[in-house]
Amino acid sequence: MRALFVTSEVYPIIKTGGLADVSASLPEALCNLGLDVRVLLPGYPAALQVAREKGSGIIAQLDIGEYAVTLYETLIPGTTVNVWVVDCPALFDRPGNPYQNDRGEDWEDNALRYYLFARVAALIALGEAGLRWIPDVVHCNDWQSGLVPALLPDSRPCPATVFTVHNLAYQGVFPAETFRELELPDSLWHFSGLEFHGRFSFIKGGLVFSDRLTTVSPAYAREIQQPEFGYGLDGLLRHRAPVLSGVLNGIDTRVWNPENDRFLDHAYDGDSIHNKRLCRADLQRNLGLDASQEKPVLGYIGRLVEQKGVDLLLQVVPEMLQQGCQVVILGSGMPHFEQDLRALADLWPGRLSLTIGYDEALAHRITAGADIFMMPSRFEPCGLNQMYSLQYGTVPVVHRVGGLSDTVTDPLDSSCSLANGFCFSGGGAGAFTEALNRALRCFQDPLAWRRLQINGMNGEYSWQRRAGTYTEIYKEALAERRAMSE
Ligand code: ADP
Ligand code: GLC
Repeated sequence: MRALFVTSEVYPIIKTGGLADVSASLPEALCNLGLDVRVLLPGYPAALQVAREKGSGIIAQLDIGEYAVTLYETLIPGTTVNVWVVDCPALFDRPGNPYQNDRGEDWEDNALRYYLFARVAALIALGEAGLRWIPDVVHCNDWQSGLVPALLPDSRPCPATVFTVHNLAYQGVFPAETFRELELPDSLWHFSGLEFHGRFSFIKGGLVFSDRLTTVSPAYAREIQQPEFGYGLDGLLRHRAPVLSGVLNGIDTRVWNPENDRFLDHAYDGDSIHNKRLCRADLQRNLGLDASQEKPVLGYIGRLVEQKGVDLLLQVVPEMLQQGCQVVILGSGMPHFEQDLRALADLWPGRLSLTIGYDEALAHRITAGADIFMMPSRFEPCGLNQMYSLQYGTVPVVHRVGGLSDTVTDPLDSSCSLANGFCFSGGGAGAFTEALNRALRCFQDPLAWRRLQINGMNGEYSWQRRAGTYTEIYKEALAERRAMSE
């Protein structure tokens, strides 16, 4: 089976969040299952650089309106997965973030950029890009590839389409004029098309026109059908519930593995978990924290945005520090959160380490060196960091939402032989503090703590089985398509 995996980020080429991790490791796992996969990625400078360094070839040249597009074929670094880079310098070859300029504002022409990207995907899907390779399935991800299913016809044979929601909060909504400027067919401008309260929605293209919908955890698949998490799309998602399923993300267990993590000076596994203490000592030393051992080190890594519950962190961290814990925070995001965290860090030298920025190596060192990992997300479609933590024997304390509730099991909810972390419900600072306090008490009981750690480390987080589930979904969608066109 041939699958075109359309995505706006791929690790390690370009990453703003977990979508990039998934867009590298899921296609690789699909290839390992024998599928023939091509990843389609916009030609950002980082992608063009990979294409140049790897000496990749031009496989197609297309004219889309006034834009000349060159398609390069290269490999995702460190893998044997083919990636096709959509080079259109006027739209993608610009510095900085894929979606925003360096002032943190969305690029003004984002609609045009991802419309063009979708057109390229549609041409490939229809066999109109001059390539011999035509997919059986097109797998789109998030709003940036939402228009692809809308641009594919219903009536003639064409690949099956699968659309994965990684985060429903980002929808790609633009003014109605943009729809007209892009000269999209009028037939798409209606309530059960791309129109959304008088505006033009990219994500609706994926949600309305795809044969199958998935999201990145079973709990989030249920949540997005409710008004609280549905962002106005819950009605549509309830309507599409028969084709919607939740497939939990996996993690790349070669990159995230405490037994051979290239960023750590000390390796460990379940049998040598005492070495984790050495990772903690390294972390404390490198970040200028006091070398204390009795109280736990609490870690946080992630985007500093409302989704991640940074307001809760700000409320709860002072109390944890007062109780003698140390706290290590790595992230970047909204200026006011960065500012508030800086102010807090200034009050607690040697006890609270704050790194504003993106730092891959430090992310690994925190994941290994912390005792507890905090994830108080307001909502979390899947979340990867809690799985990285579990894999490293770092006990997660999480808000019971989305993928967090599917991966973290609290001792209060199950027998101790299954528990691997602590959960709180309701989303208040009090509930978060209470869950952290339970974790702190458990930390004082080495045997009970060890059991939690080992349960986490024994979990199955790899992509292998999950990629099998995607393959089943592709097959179903394809069989249905074929039956329709017969
Ligand atoms: P989201 O995609 O919502 O940001 P995920 O948990 O799915 O959340 O994925 C976040 C990914 O980004 C993880 O791989 C995490 O380690 C990484 N990450 C986030 N912020 C940073 C940072 N400041 N430095 C290094 N890695 C980061
Ligand atoms: C999104 C979600 C996150 C998920 C990631 C990968 O960024 O916020 O929860 O893990 O996509 O699917």
